[in-house]
Amino acid sequence: MNLIVTSPLAAETKSAELEQFLTDIDLPYVPRGRKSLPKLMQEYQADGVVVWKVDGPVLYFDNEQFFFHPNMAKIRIGAFRKQGQVDPMIEACGLKAGDRFLDCTLGLGADAIVAAYFTRTKVMGLESSQVITAIIKWGMRQFHSDISWLSEPIRNIEVIHADHYEFLAQLDSKSFDVVYFDPMFRQPLLKSQPLSPLRRLADPRPLSRDTIKQACRVARSRVVVKERYQGEEFKRLGIEIIHSTSGQLAYGIINVS
Ligand SMILES: C[S@@+](CC[C@H](N)C(=O)[O-])C[C@H]1O[C@@H](n2cnc3c(N)ncnc32)[C@H](O)[C@@H]1O
Repeated sequence: MNLIVTSPLAAETKSAELEQFLTDIDLPYVPRGRKSLPKLMQEYQADGVVVWKVDGPVLYFDNEQFFFHPNMAKIRIGAFRKQGQVDPMIEACGLKAGDRFLDCTLGLGADAIVAAYFTRTKVMGLESSQVITAIIKWGMRQFHSDISWLSEPIRNIEVIHADHYEFLAQLDSKSFDVVYFDPMFRQPLLKSQPLSPLRRLADPRPLSRDTIKQACRVARSRVVVKERYQGEEFKRLGIEIIHSTSGQLAYGIINVS
């Protein structure tokens, strides 16, 4: 996908933050001038354009937008705060305050935010797609809300652009309590669904057994994998304990302690 970065219509100068974002995303910056986004994309033969906005970068392509938004995390944390509803991921991971959580598949960051809320400490999130990493990292940084139970966990997430196997291989043994994976499903849950922006940008590779082996070395307590309940992935990865949450989703658990 050929992508470019630009500024909103009114902005003329590049801020220091925009310079850092350009280093992170490693895409060419083109001056906006007074041009519309379709005109700019046509001129640079781009498939999509990332606009650097004050409240976070937004990628426009194919009439869709991709940007950081904490909606899913807000609903999950809100359900716990209002109704005491237990979050299935937190339950599967056995997370408690003070635990160190390594999210090996950050994506939009919803699971990482929920983990940061319950652990009340720093969470590390790894993402191998450079475009997703940069948009989510800077979206989180530029996010402001008066809801402190949402903004505090977001501030506690450290976003790292890395392939999880390579990153895990460098870590000391037993350096995190829980190592977590939510890889892309082999197929979208609904076949009729159009490809979401995340699916089009994401790294589609399946988890490898070597990655699970490294995760078991790095975790002090558990390795947890989210997958389809009916999928073959748990069997392929040698995961036997399966915590089913709904008809479609399940968490595979490896206890390592
Ligand atoms: C289903 S999404 C994760 C969604 C996330 N749990 C959330 O709450 O928003 C999977 C993400 O993992 C990333 N990914 C896939 N393989 C990876 C790898 N080897 N290393 C790091 N990230 C990877 C994909 O690019 C994608 O963004």
